[in-house]
Amino acid sequence: MKVAALVSLLAAVSFASAEVVWTFKKFQDGVEVPLEQGPDTEFQSQALKKVGEVRKRNNRMGRAADATVTSSNWCGAAVTGSGFSSVVGSWVVPTISRRSGQSSSSSPALAQWVGIDGFSNSALIQAGTLSQLSGSTQQNIAWSEMLPAALRQVNLAVSTGDHITTNVTQTGATSGSITIQNTSKGTTLVGTVSGGTRLSSTSAEWILEDFESGSSLVAFAGFPTSTFTGSAIRSGTSVSPATATLIDIVQNSELCSATLSGSTVSMKDS
Ligand SMILES: *[C@@H]1O[C@H](CO)[C@@H](O)[C@H](O)[C@H]1NC(C)=O
Ligand SMILES: *[C@@H]1O[C@H](CO)[C@@H](O)[C@H](O)[C@H]1NC(C)=O
Repeated sequence: MKVAALVSLLAAVSFASAEVVWTFKKFQDGVEVPLEQGPDTEFQSQALKKVGEVRKRNNRMGRAADATVTSSNWCGAAVTGSGFSSVVGSWVVPTISRRSGQSSSSSPALAQWVGIDGFSNSALIQAGTLSQLSGSTQQNIAWSEMLPAALRQVNLAVSTGDHITTNVTQTGATSGSITIQNTSKGTTLVGTVSGGTRLSSTSAEWILEDFESGSSLVAFAGFPTSTFTGSAIRSGTSVSPATATLIDIVQNSELCSATLSGSTVSMKDS
């Protein structure tokens, strides 16, 4: 009697806490090839951590966007509203460096990604690349994440200087698909996920992030000015980043500022 009661309690608990499940496939020039999924890492990308809003500043700085917000962890652009179902972005994996004041034993890092949600809520589906300096070696990985789960590393080789195009698409309230494509080499990673935090489809974004490891932000790497090009789909219609809200990273001081030139988002180390 007691045992049966315990079993049904456990069953109820595991039913209540839905699990985020990813499956991945890899293609070379359109043909499926073997892929091993990488381990879960201690890294985690986060919903926007807003530290303040800066309005009116854009005119002064010649920025096209309506508004700029500052964040402790995101730099880039977000289109906001309702009905966002898909986003695509292209970027180059940059050569990263240590900022002045970062010791030679530190391992500064950054992530580049596109995603749906996370700007005005704490649901988020995203995919991209992550770069970290260990000693004098730069390591890059491809990854995807759907909150509340941590980041999934995928065993797709990523080299500094690679041209990456990533598409993140919402396929249901708690499910989605991602593709990460190496346009230099013809490799494509396709991932599908279910069981994530319910999406509200209220933003799509192109972000260079100071992500978390454990519960603190990693040392934020220095980087050459980087860009995103791409678009999002809102209620079936293509939307460019041209009307996006820009996001700057400000910690003790400003570390990254975003600008728009047409529909190209630039992130400048500051
Ligand atoms: C992402 O890929 C899906 C599936 O191929 C496609 O329908 C969608 O248009 C793409 N998203 C964007 C923003 O181009
Ligand atoms: C992309 O292609 C480059 C050049 O061939 C290669 O070095 C790199 O490992 C590839 N990266 C990915 C993400 O497949």
